[in-house]
Amino acid sequence: MSNEKIDNCEVSAHSPLGGYGMADNTGNGILSGSISIPSRGLEEEMREKKGFFERLVEKKKAAIKSACRNEGLSANRNGKRCIMKLIIASNNKGKIREYKDIFEPFGFLVRSQGEENINLEVEETGTTFEQNAALKARAIYDRSHCCVISDDSGLEVEALGGEPGLFSARYKGLQTEHERRMAVLKGLEGKDNRKARFVTCICFIDETGKEHLFTGIWKGVISAKEEGTNGFGYDPIFISEDGNGKTTASMPLSFKETYSHRAKAVKALITYLQSR
Ligand code: IMP
Repeated sequence: MSNEKIDNCEVSAHSPLGGYGMADNTGNGILSGSISIPSRGLEEEMREKKGFFERLVEKKKAAIKSACRNEGLSANRNGKRCIMKLIIASNNKGKIREYKDIFEPFGFLVRSQGEENINLEVEETGTTFEQNAALKARAIYDRSHCCVISDDSGLEVEALGGEPGLFSARYKGLQTEHERRMAVLKGLEGKDNRKARFVTCICFIDETGKEHLFTGIWKGVISAKEEGTNGFGYDPIFISEDGNGKTTASMPLSFKETYSHRAKAVKALITYLQSR
């Protein structure tokens, strides 16, 4: 039987059939399973082939990593068995549900900050979407020391000098979404340039506290008037470059799921998570 330390966990190769086990530093078994190795005995193979054991360990590392992900366990924090909890730094129910759907398949136990009893209203004092997303995520991470996701989005209109921008949710202090949309339309009266873009920045803080930022941009123009009832916010006055001249609010919801700024940022984050 041969043993190897992986991320402070004991990994043992204990049978010629390729059985493996993994134990944490308390000696508790965490995972076991089998991988395929040549049919001859392991000891014999190791003597004959230089580097065989190293390759075997790499295979096991990958198998354990993937098994951990499937079971929502982390195998690499001080060799201790722990749940990979992911906290969504938001109180928006729609956003929380959306993020749960996306990230649970990655083996995370996805919880909202409310479910974790973290009652925190972080002041968005940043000067970019990236800074605001990071501020919110860091505040939750400092309380929880778990993985965190937060995002910050908005609409930037070129001829309005990038407004509403960071202030999209509270543009000019107006109370309703309709009033805020009308303020944008009024601001563009008499202007030829109606170019605009939605921006989303997602901040993911991993289990070691490292920040990862993913930005999605969706270009388009501002319509002449409000149209459509789907979506929210500025959707009734935004015509994306991917559409057929209709406002986003006039398109089926699946349209945004494919093309939107948020979809792009989420895709970038998923690509990163898959590569971890
Ligand atoms: P949040 O940071 O995702 O909460 O977005 C801030 C504000 O930006 C929202 O309240 C909306 O006014 C606007 N916004 C962000 N994303 C969208 C979108 O996909 N459609 C329309 N408006 C949006």
